Amino acid sequence: MNTWPTRAAALPDRVSIREVGPRDGLQSENPIPPEDKVRLIDALSGTGLRRIEAVSFVHPKAIPQMADADEVWRAVTRSPEVQYSALAPNLKGAQRALDAGFDHVEVVVSASDTHNLNNIKRSTDESLDGIAELIAALGDRGPTIEVIVATAFGCPYEGDVAAERVASIVDRVITDGAHRIAFGDTTGMATPRRVAELLDLVRSAHPDVPLLLHFHNTRGTALANVLTAMDYGVVEFDASVGGLGGCPYAPGASGNLATEELVHMLHDMGVETGVDLDALIEVAELAESLVGRELPSGVLRAGPRTRLTPKPDIKD
Ligand code: COA
Ligand code: ZN
Repeated sequence: MNTWPTRAAALPDRVSIREVGPRDGLQSENPIPPEDKVRLIDALSGTGLRRIEAVSFVHPKAIPQMADADEVWRAVTRSPEVQYSALAPNLKGAQRALDAGFDHVEVVVSASDTHNLNNIKRSTDESLDGIAELIAALGDRGPTIEVIVATAFGCPYEGDVAAERVASIVDRVITDGAHRIAFGDTTGMATPRRVAELLDLVRSAHPDVPLLLHFHNTRGTALANVLTAMDYGVVEFDASVGGLGGCPYAPGASGNLATEELVHMLHDMGVETGVDLDALIEVAELAESLVGRELPSGVLRAGPRTRLTPKPDIKD
Protein backbone atom coordinates (compact mmCIF):
# COMPACT_ATOMS: atom_id res chain seq x y z
CA MET A 1 0.00 0.00 0.00
CA ASN A 2 1.20 3.50 -0.76
CA THR A 3 1.44 5.35 2.54
CA TRP A 4 1.67 8.79 0.92
CA PRO A 5 -0.18 11.22 3.22
CA THR A 6 -3.37 12.69 1.83
CA ARG A 7 -3.36 16.38 0.94
CA ALA A 8 -5.99 17.47 3.39
CA ALA A 9 -4.54 20.76 4.63
CA ALA A 10 -5.97 24.10 3.56
CA LEU A 11 -3.77 26.38 1.49
CA PRO A 12 -2.29 29.44 3.19
CA ASP A 13 -3.70 32.85 2.23
CA ARG A 14 -0.25 34.26 1.78
CA VAL A 15 3.29 33.10 1.18
CA SER A 16 6.46 35.10 1.77
CA ILE A 17 9.04 34.78 -0.98
CA ARG A 18 12.69 35.59 -0.51
CA GLU A 19 14.37 36.43 -3.77
CA VAL A 20 17.85 34.88 -3.91
CA GLY A 21 18.85 35.61 -7.52
CA PRO A 22 21.37 38.35 -6.68
CA ARG A 23 23.31 36.04 -4.34
CA ASP A 24 22.60 32.36 -4.82
CA GLY A 25 21.79 32.89 -8.48
CA LEU A 26 24.68 35.11 -9.48
CA GLN A 27 27.27 33.13 -7.53
CA SER A 28 26.91 30.32 -10.08
CA GLU A 29 26.77 32.51 -13.19
CA ASN A 30 29.68 34.05 -15.09
CA PRO A 31 30.73 37.15 -13.11
CA ILE A 32 28.90 40.37 -13.94
CA PRO A 33 29.99 43.89 -12.97
CA PRO A 34 28.84 45.37 -9.63
CA GLU A 35 26.71 48.03 -11.33
CA ASP A 36 24.70 45.29 -13.07
CA LYS A 37 24.14 43.54 -9.75
CA VAL A 38 22.89 46.81 -8.30
CA ARG A 39 20.55 47.25 -11.27
CA LEU A 40 19.16 43.78 -10.70
CA ILE A 41 18.63 44.26 -6.96
CA ASP A 42 17.02 47.68 -7.46
CA ALA A 43 14.72 46.29 -10.15
CA LEU A 44 13.70 43.42 -7.87
CA SER A 45 12.99 45.88 -5.04
CA GLY A 46 10.29 47.44 -7.25
CA THR A 47 8.32 44.25 -7.93
CA GLY A 48 6.56 43.89 -4.59
CA LEU A 49 9.03 41.30 -3.29
CA ARG A 50 9.51 41.92 0.43
CA ARG A 51 12.69 39.94 0.98
CA ILE A 52 15.87 39.90 -1.06
CA GLU A 53 19.09 38.03 -0.33
CA ALA A 54 21.44 40.63 -1.74
CA VAL A 55 25.03 39.40 -1.32
CA SER A 56 27.25 37.03 0.62
CA PHE A 57 30.33 37.79 2.70
CA VAL A 58 32.54 34.85 1.88
CA HIS A 59 36.19 34.39 1.04
CA PRO A 60 36.74 36.05 -2.35
CA LYS A 61 38.77 33.07 -3.53
CA ALA A 62 35.94 30.66 -2.62
CA ILE A 63 33.30 32.62 -4.56
CA PRO A 64 34.88 35.33 -6.74
CA GLN A 65 31.40 36.38 -7.94
CA MET A 66 30.71 37.81 -4.46
CA ALA A 67 34.06 39.58 -3.97
CA ASP A 68 32.39 42.96 -4.57
CA ALA A 69 29.67 42.48 -1.92
CA ASP A 70 30.52 45.67 0.01
CA GLU A 71 30.62 47.78 -3.13
CA VAL A 72 27.31 46.37 -4.40
CA TRP A 73 25.54 46.80 -1.09
CA ARG A 74 26.71 50.41 -0.71
CA ALA A 75 25.27 51.27 -4.13
CA VAL A 76 21.89 49.55 -3.72
CA THR A 77 18.89 51.86 -3.33
CA ARG A 78 17.39 50.30 -0.23
CA SER A 79 13.62 50.18 -0.26
CA PRO A 80 12.10 50.61 3.20
CA GLU A 81 9.58 47.94 2.23
CA VAL A 82 12.19 45.28 1.53
CA GLN A 83 14.07 43.20 4.08
CA TYR A 84 17.54 42.61 2.65
CA SER A 85 19.74 39.80 3.92
CA ALA A 86 23.27 38.55 3.45
CA LEU A 87 24.74 35.08 3.65
CA ALA A 88 27.84 34.32 5.70
CA PRO A 89 29.73 31.05 6.13
CA ASN A 90 31.42 31.94 9.42
CA LEU A 91 31.91 34.55 12.16
CA LYS A 92 34.12 36.74 10.00
CA GLY A 93 31.50 36.82 7.24
CA ALA A 94 28.72 37.58 9.72
CA GLN A 95 30.78 40.41 11.22
CA ARG A 96 31.34 41.82 7.75
CA ALA A 97 27.59 41.64 7.10
CA LEU A 98 26.74 43.50 10.31
CA ASP A 99 29.48 46.06 9.71
CA ALA A 100 27.98 46.67 6.27
CA GLY A 101 24.62 47.37 7.93
CA PHE A 102 22.66 44.15 7.45
CA ASP A 103 20.13 43.24 10.15
CA HIS A 104 19.41 39.79 8.74
CA VAL A 105 22.19 37.26 8.38
CA GLU A 106 21.97 33.73 7.03
CA VAL A 107 24.64 31.36 8.24
CA VAL A 108 25.08 28.24 6.20
CA VAL A 109 26.06 24.72 7.26
CA SER A 110 25.65 21.53 5.26
CA ALA A 111 24.01 18.51 6.84
CA SER A 112 26.52 16.28 5.08
CA ASP A 113 30.15 16.40 6.21
CA THR A 114 31.59 15.95 2.74
CA HIS A 115 29.61 18.86 1.32
CA ASN A 116 30.44 21.06 4.30
CA LEU A 117 34.13 20.22 4.04
CA ASN A 118 34.06 21.11 0.37
CA ASN A 119 32.09 24.32 0.86
CA ILE A 120 33.27 25.67 4.22
CA LYS A 121 36.38 23.55 4.88
CA ARG A 122 34.96 22.33 8.19
CA SER A 123 33.08 19.22 9.32
CA THR A 124 29.41 19.79 10.08
CA ASP A 125 30.13 19.64 13.83
CA GLU A 126 32.97 22.15 13.53
CA SER A 127 30.68 24.52 11.68
CA LEU A 128 27.97 24.04 14.31
CA ASP A 129 30.48 24.96 17.03
CA GLY A 130 31.36 28.02 14.94
CA ILE A 131 27.68 28.97 14.63
CA ALA A 132 27.24 28.75 18.42
CA GLU A 133 30.25 31.05 18.83
CA LEU A 134 28.93 33.40 16.18
CA ILE A 135 25.52 33.70 17.86
CA ALA A 136 27.20 34.28 21.24
CA ALA A 137 29.56 36.88 19.77
CA LEU A 138 27.10 38.83 17.65
CA GLY A 139 23.74 38.27 19.33
CA ASP A 140 23.86 41.53 21.29
CA ARG A 141 24.24 43.50 18.06
CA GLY A 142 20.62 42.47 17.47
CA PRO A 143 20.62 40.75 14.08
CA THR A 144 18.16 38.09 13.02
CA ILE A 145 20.24 34.98 12.56
CA GLU A 146 18.93 32.29 10.25
CA VAL A 147 20.71 28.98 9.92
CA ILE A 148 20.47 27.50 6.45
CA VAL A 149 20.93 23.74 6.56
CA ALA A 150 22.25 22.90 3.11
CA THR A 151 22.03 19.43 1.52
CA ALA A 152 19.02 18.88 3.79
CA PHE A 153 17.38 16.56 1.27
CA GLY A 154 20.45 14.80 -0.06
CA CYS A 155 24.14 15.28 -0.77
CA PRO A 156 25.72 14.97 -4.20
CA TYR A 157 28.68 13.09 -2.63
CA GLU A 158 27.05 11.06 0.13
CA GLY A 159 23.58 10.49 -1.29
CA ASP A 160 20.60 10.45 1.06
CA VAL A 161 20.95 12.49 4.24
CA ALA A 162 18.93 11.03 7.12
CA ALA A 163 16.07 13.29 8.18
CA GLU A 164 17.08 12.51 11.79
CA ARG A 165 20.50 14.05 11.16
CA VAL A 166 18.95 17.22 9.79
CA ALA A 167 16.51 17.32 12.71
CA SER A 168 19.34 17.02 15.22
CA ILE A 169 21.13 19.96 13.56
CA VAL A 170 17.94 21.97 13.98
CA ASP A 171 17.75 20.96 17.68
CA ARG A 172 21.32 22.08 18.22
CA VAL A 173 21.14 25.48 16.49
CA ILE A 174 17.83 26.35 18.12
CA THR A 175 19.35 25.52 21.52
CA ASP A 176 22.32 27.70 20.58
CA GLY A 177 20.02 30.65 19.87
CA ALA A 178 19.29 30.70 16.12
CA HIS A 179 16.12 32.63 15.34
CA ARG A 180 15.13 30.96 12.12
CA ILE A 181 15.84 27.83 10.09
CA ALA A 182 16.02 27.23 6.36
CA PHE A 183 16.43 23.92 4.55
CA GLY A 184 18.39 24.09 1.33
CA ASP A 185 17.89 21.51 -1.38
CA THR A 186 21.32 22.40 -2.65
CA THR A 187 21.43 20.11 -5.65
CA GLY A 188 17.77 19.45 -6.34
CA MET A 189 17.49 16.06 -4.64
CA ALA A 190 14.24 16.78 -2.80
CA THR A 191 11.00 15.12 -3.79
CA PRO A 192 7.59 15.49 -2.11
CA ARG A 193 8.22 12.26 -0.22
CA ARG A 194 11.46 13.56 1.27
CA VAL A 195 9.96 16.95 2.06
CA ALA A 196 7.11 15.24 3.91
CA GLU A 197 9.50 12.99 5.81
CA LEU A 198 11.71 15.84 7.03
CA LEU A 199 8.88 18.24 7.83
CA ASP A 200 7.02 15.56 9.78
CA LEU A 201 10.03 15.16 12.03
CA VAL A 202 11.05 18.79 12.39
CA ARG A 203 7.56 20.23 12.72
CA SER A 204 6.67 17.86 15.53
CA ALA A 205 9.81 18.85 17.48
CA HIS A 206 9.75 22.58 16.65
CA PRO A 207 6.22 23.55 15.59
CA ASP A 208 6.78 27.29 16.00
CA VAL A 209 10.27 27.94 14.69
CA PRO A 210 10.13 30.08 11.53
CA LEU A 211 11.07 27.79 8.69
CA LEU A 212 11.90 28.61 5.10
CA LEU A 213 12.48 26.14 2.29
CA HIS A 214 14.86 26.56 -0.62
CA PHE A 215 14.29 24.27 -3.58
CA HIS A 216 16.21 23.73 -6.76
CA ASN A 217 14.44 22.57 -9.87
CA THR A 218 17.32 20.44 -11.07
CA ARG A 219 15.09 17.41 -11.50
CA GLY A 220 11.78 19.17 -12.02
CA THR A 221 10.35 18.66 -8.53
CA ALA A 222 10.60 22.17 -7.05
CA LEU A 223 6.95 23.25 -7.33
CA ALA A 224 5.71 19.84 -6.20
CA ASN A 225 7.96 20.23 -3.17
CA VAL A 226 6.49 23.68 -2.46
CA LEU A 227 2.95 22.24 -2.52
CA THR A 228 3.97 19.49 -0.13
CA ALA A 229 5.63 21.97 2.21
CA MET A 230 2.52 24.17 2.24
CA ASP A 231 0.55 21.12 3.41
CA TYR A 232 2.87 21.12 6.41
CA GLY A 233 2.19 24.78 7.09
CA VAL A 234 5.37 26.21 5.55
CA VAL A 235 4.72 29.69 4.16
CA GLU A 236 8.23 30.93 3.34
CA PHE A 237 10.16 29.99 0.23
CA ASP A 238 13.29 31.07 -1.58
CA ALA A 239 13.25 31.51 -5.34
CA SER A 240 15.51 33.08 -7.92
CA VAL A 241 14.37 35.42 -10.68
CA GLY A 242 14.50 33.71 -14.07
CA GLY A 243 15.83 30.62 -12.31
CA LEU A 244 19.25 32.32 -12.11
CA GLY A 245 21.97 30.02 -10.85
CA GLY A 246 23.17 26.69 -12.06
CA CYS A 247 23.84 23.48 -10.29
CA PRO A 248 27.61 23.18 -9.87
CA TYR A 249 27.39 19.39 -9.54
CA ALA A 250 25.24 18.78 -12.60
CA PRO A 251 26.53 20.87 -15.50
CA GLY A 252 23.76 22.13 -17.75
CA ALA A 253 21.07 21.43 -15.18
CA SER A 254 18.78 24.18 -14.01
CA GLY A 255 19.30 25.52 -10.54
CA ASN A 256 17.02 27.52 -8.31
CA LEU A 257 13.26 27.48 -8.61
CA ALA A 258 12.34 30.52 -10.72
CA THR A 259 10.53 33.20 -8.73
CA GLU A 260 8.02 33.94 -11.49
CA GLU A 261 7.12 30.24 -11.76
CA LEU A 262 6.41 30.19 -8.03
CA VAL A 263 4.43 33.45 -8.07
CA HIS A 264 2.50 32.36 -11.17
CA MET A 265 1.40 29.09 -9.59
CA LEU A 266 0.58 30.57 -6.18
CA HIS A 267 -1.50 33.46 -7.53
CA ASP A 268 -3.57 31.09 -9.65
CA MET A 269 -4.23 29.03 -6.51
CA GLY A 270 -5.39 32.15 -4.65
CA VAL A 271 -2.26 32.37 -2.50
CA GLU A 272 -1.05 35.98 -2.28
CA THR A 273 2.61 36.95 -2.52
CA GLY A 274 2.40 40.72 -2.97
CA VAL A 275 4.48 40.40 -6.12
CA ASP A 276 3.52 42.03 -9.43
CA LEU A 277 4.02 39.11 -11.82
CA ASP A 278 4.34 41.22 -14.98
CA ALA A 279 6.96 43.43 -13.33
CA LEU A 280 8.81 40.34 -12.15
CA ILE A 281 8.86 38.84 -15.65
CA GLU A 282 10.40 42.09 -16.89
CA VAL A 283 13.13 41.73 -14.26
CA ALA A 284 13.66 38.12 -15.37
CA GLU A 285 14.22 39.48 -18.90
CA LEU A 286 16.71 41.95 -17.45
CA ALA A 287 18.47 39.15 -15.54
CA GLU A 288 18.71 37.12 -18.73
CA SER A 289 20.29 40.03 -20.60
CA LEU A 290 22.72 40.73 -17.74
CA VAL A 291 24.06 37.18 -17.52
CA GLY A 292 23.95 36.66 -21.27
CA ARG A 293 22.40 33.22 -21.36
CA GLU A 294 18.91 31.84 -21.74
CA LEU A 295 17.43 31.29 -18.30
CA PRO A 296 15.40 28.16 -17.58
CA SER A 297 12.15 29.72 -16.33
CA GLY A 298 9.10 28.38 -18.16
CA VAL A 299 7.00 31.43 -17.25
CA LEU A 300 9.70 33.69 -18.65
CA ARG A 301 9.61 31.72 -21.93
CA ALA A 302 5.87 31.15 -22.30
CA GLY A 303 4.44 34.06 -20.28
CA PRO A 304 1.71 33.59 -17.68
CA ARG A 305 -1.22 31.30 -18.51
CA THR A 306 -3.40 34.40 -18.92
CA ARG A 307 -1.31 35.63 -21.85
CA LEU A 308 -3.31 34.53 -24.87
CA THR A 309 -2.12 33.78 -28.36
CA PRO A 310 -3.93 35.74 -31.09
CA LYS A 311 -6.83 33.70 -32.45
CA PRO A 312 -6.11 32.00 -35.74
CA ASP A 313 -8.08 33.07 -38.76
CA ILE A 314 -10.40 30.06 -39.14
CA LYS A 315 -12.30 29.91 -42.41
CA ASP A 316 -15.30 27.65 -42.69
N1 COA B 1 35.21 36.67 4.20
C1 COA B 1 36.45 37.07 3.82
N2 COA B 1 37.60 36.53 4.26
C2 COA B 1 37.48 35.52 5.14
C3 COA B 1 36.26 35.03 5.56
C4 COA B 1 35.08 35.66 5.07
N3 COA B 1 33.86 35.25 5.42
N4 COA B 1 36.44 34.03 6.43
C5 COA B 1 37.77 33.88 6.55
N5 COA B 1 38.41 34.78 5.78
C6 COA B 1 39.86 34.98 5.66
C7 COA B 1 40.55 34.99 7.01
O1 COA B 1 40.55 36.30 7.54
C8 COA B 1 41.93 34.54 6.65
O2 COA B 1 42.62 35.61 6.05
P1 COA B 1 44.21 35.77 6.26
O3 COA B 1 44.81 34.59 5.57
O4 COA B 1 44.48 37.07 5.57
O5 COA B 1 44.41 35.78 7.72
C9 COA B 1 41.67 33.51 5.55
O6 COA B 1 40.38 33.83 5.00
C10 COA B 1 41.64 32.10 6.03
O7 COA B 1 40.74 31.98 7.12
P2 COA B 1 40.06 30.60 7.51
O8 COA B 1 39.14 30.80 8.65
O9 COA B 1 41.15 29.58 7.67
O10 COA B 1 39.17 30.32 6.24
P3 COA B 1 39.29 29.08 5.26
O11 COA B 1 40.39 29.29 4.30
O12 COA B 1 39.18 27.82 6.04
O13 COA B 1 37.93 29.26 4.39
C11 COA B 1 35.62 29.91 4.35
C12 COA B 1 36.68 29.04 5.00
C13 COA B 1 34.30 29.51 4.97
C14 COA B 1 35.90 31.37 4.62
C15 COA B 1 35.59 29.69 2.83
O14 COA B 1 35.61 28.33 2.53
C16 COA B 1 34.36 30.34 2.18
O15 COA B 1 34.25 31.54 2.08
N6 COA B 1 33.40 29.53 1.73
C17 COA B 1 32.16 30.07 1.18
C18 COA B 1 31.51 29.06 0.35
C19 COA B 1 30.21 29.58 -0.18
O16 COA B 1 29.82 30.73 -0.10
N7 COA B 1 29.46 28.69 -0.81
C20 COA B 1 28.22 29.00 -1.40
C21 COA B 1 27.16 29.35 -0.46
S1 COA B 1 26.47 27.97 0.34
ZN1 ZN C 1 20.00 27.68 -4.35
